[in-house]
Amino acid sequence: MKVAVVGATGLVGSEMLTVLAERNFPVTELIPVASERSKGKEIEFKGKKYKVVTASEAIALKPDVAIFSAGGGTSTEYAPLFAEAGITVIDNSSAWRMDPTKKLVVPEVNGDVLTADDKIIANPNCSTIQMVVVLKPLHEKYKIKRVVVSTYQSVTGTGVKAVDQLMNERKGIEGEKAYPYQIDLNVIPQIDVFQDNGYTKEEMKMILETNKIMGDDSIKVTATTVRIPVIGGHSESVNIEFENEFDLADVRAALEAQEGVVVVDNPANLEYPMPKDAHGKDEVFVGRIRRDETQDKTLNLWIVADNLRKGAATNAVQVAELLHSKGLI
Ligand code: A2P
Repeated sequence: MKVAVVGATGLVGSEMLTVLAERNFPVTELIPVASERSKGKEIEFKGKKYKVVTASEAIALKPDVAIFSAGGGTSTEYAPLFAEAGITVIDNSSAWRMDPTKKLVVPEVNGDVLTADDKIIANPNCSTIQMVVVLKPLHEKYKIKRVVVSTYQSVTGTGVKAVDQLMNERKGIEGEKAYPYQIDLNVIPQIDVFQDNGYTKEEMKMILETNKIMGDDSIKVTATTVRIPVIGGHSESVNIEFENEFDLADVRAALEAQEGVVVVDNPANLEYPMPKDAHGKDEVFVGRIRRDETQDKTLNLWIVADNLRKGAATNAVQVAELLHSKGLI
């Protein structure tokens, strides 16, 4: 497979290179793509050096698949040009996610929706991905009525500039700011821009994308998304109300059986998922599994995953693996 990674010099892009190598995706030739500024720069992949090219140059090189993580603007402009040239695009930006003609895919949840006609495939929002992997087996068993989620999100989701802001603040160094406020020793209850309804765009992504991926608009979702001074992964407190009664041991067994999910839940030994432990891992970790004692048929969970991995790069590479195994690329 000839694989283009668009945004190869960015945080998610470089994680994509790591994941492609780690999972042994059959890359015969890598085409690292970035902006005009990075053209000619060398990128190392599996011990070989590749020169960075621009998006237009990459189209001419005819990769089999192009994985984009270079921002919404680049995806809006270039994904259709790649697709027209017969190159399948897996796009990590939010540009195509809610387009009814595009599939929004988490392989463990709705991988079966992919067909040969899908030339631009959207990778969901990081916070949504880790939540739906956990919701899926529970929805199948007990039918979810409503989800209330609050997130605790890593600065890596914003990009290099945000990681630099946190580290600079920690060292007392003045520098560029990715956030309107100090993030070190602080919590910012705003991710992305505010919408007219008082929710942020990140919160609306969690709501709308969950319905689209689960293929069920009847699931009610409400979200509060929060940035915290953490590197390593996003955490989520999730309250789930079901249509049907459940047994806690069965919930645990269903989660243990779910592909891509690891249960870490042993209060007696103080074991629960934390971003420090999820960092660099492909799985979604779930713990603090307990009943909401204030309401029938309702469960509380704590979900953690590395947002650059399962929340972005790993999911995109898994989509590529799925396309490859189905003979669609
Ligand atoms: P560059 O490094 O040349 O700016 P991050 O989200 O971590 O900030 O990374 C954004 C990524 O998107 C970088 O690899 C960046 O390249 C890339 N990028 C930005 N604009 C374009 C463009 N017009 N074409 C291709 N890649 C782009």
